[in-house]
Amino acid sequence: MENDLQAIVSQAEASQATISNRSDWDQAKAVILGPKGSLTQASKLIGKLPREEKPAFGQALNQAKKQVEALFANSLSRIEEQADLIALGKPYDPTLPAVPNRSASLHPLSATRRKVVAIFRKLGFTVTEATEAETEWFCFDALNTPEDHPARDEQDTLFFSPDSKWANVSKKAKEAHLLRTHTSSVQIRTMLREKPPLRVIAPGRCFRRDTVDATHSANFHQLEGLCVDRGVTLLDLKGVLDHFLKEMFGTKVQTRLRPSFFPFTEPSFEVDLKAPNLGKLSDKWIEIMGCGLVDPEVLKLVNLDPDEWSGFAFGVGIERITMILHGIDDIRHFYQNDQRFLSQFSGSL
Ligand code: PHE
Repeated sequence: MENDLQAIVSQAEASQATISNRSDWDQAKAVILGPKGSLTQASKLIGKLPREEKPAFGQALNQAKKQVEALFANSLSRIEEQADLIALGKPYDPTLPAVPNRSASLHPLSATRRKVVAIFRKLGFTVTEATEAETEWFCFDALNTPEDHPARDEQDTLFFSPDSKWANVSKKAKEAHLLRTHTSSVQIRTMLREKPPLRVIAPGRCFRRDTVDATHSANFHQLEGLCVDRGVTLLDLKGVLDHFLKEMFGTKVQTRLRPSFFPFTEPSFEVDLKAPNLGKLSDKWIEIMGCGLVDPEVLKLVNLDPDEWSGFAFGVGIERITMILHGIDDIRHFYQNDQRFLSQFSGSL
């Protein structure tokens, strides 16, 4: 009996030389270990043996099985290795389809910013920028914002600590440094630098001391617009904003100006829009931006004669436009770098 087992192991050894691919291997293995294989058949004999011979035969059977399995494990890894080598050595085939080219795309906020900028450039606005770190004067005082206005509160605005390098730059104590809370400070910088007539837009990052939730972020983006000329009226403001919102949200958009208050515009308005193509927001009035005519006090502060010059200004949130446009309900998605979100709403370069 044990001799028979030895013969099976020898048979397995001999068969290794005939194996050169996976189907040879399957076949050779079946001959010995398959349901009708020689070792499987031999193992069935144990039932017919007298009791005292069973343990010795069982042991010999196990050992034979181990040897045979080791042989087949070896030959399998040999043929797999060979298959890999053959695949690696395959000649380059230029007729195969190309590997898809994954090119980069714009972050959804950059895509919106570019679109807004393109619309205003066509209307003759030029793009300007200013620093994100500002003095309190540019961010509030020059914008006619009273000393006790809540926006200046340390709970709302991120100030630099008095001993920071920035704070020492200021000459007057009044010029505390802060992270700008809106892009309206660029209005002042522009009017001090350039003579009217002027039309500028200023996209950029702003900061507020907000607790982050689905609609608030301590870091967000705005786009400011400013036009100063002779005889600028509300009609000009309404015309420009209507055009912008139609370009952005489609020709079916309706707009309305709702009276509001900003210290640096008089009169001031919130702009609401209503459009049929905005998913869940369709056909509801949605607040989109703030605007107004430049307050004569602001013109005086930058040495422009309000009897000669007038202007309009507006400020719009880039996140807000993008969220309304795509039905995005959580502002935090923009900053989490989740590829699934980014690729869904990204713009082409
Ligand atoms: N700066 C204002 C804000 O952040 C928006 C605004 C800009 C309003 C220009 C009027 C004119 O809410």
